[in-house]
Amino acid sequence: MMGRSMMPEEDFVPVISEGELKEGSMKLVNVVGRSILLARQRGQVYGVSNRCPHMGCSLANGTLKEYIITCPCHGWSFDIRTGEYQKAKQIKLMTYECKIQKGKIREITG
Ligand code: FES
Repeated sequence: MMGRSMMPEEDFVPVISEGELKEGSMKLVNVVGRSILLARQRGQVYGVSNRCPHMGCSLANGTLKEYIITCPCHGWSFDIRTGEYQKAKQIKLMTYECKIQKGKIREITG
């Protein structure tokens, strides 16, 4: 356990079952009206906002390599762990804390 593991359980909602997100892949989900792109790498699940801050393209149509998502439209790339744009770290995607529990991927709502 690391980071914000002290978050109360009830702040996490089940989103999809664990088997729906394979290692090294991405999946777009809708949680409480937000469009969130989930990505799984080395057993960890990361969640970022799906909308590219450049011109709003859907990052779900981009590519994931290691921890880097590349936007399909003009190639901006972001680290899924921090949401940071690789060329200017002050530009960030929103990140959402996720965890795997009892066969479900759960995402923070708070
Ligand atoms: S909209 Fe994503 S790089 Fe332009």
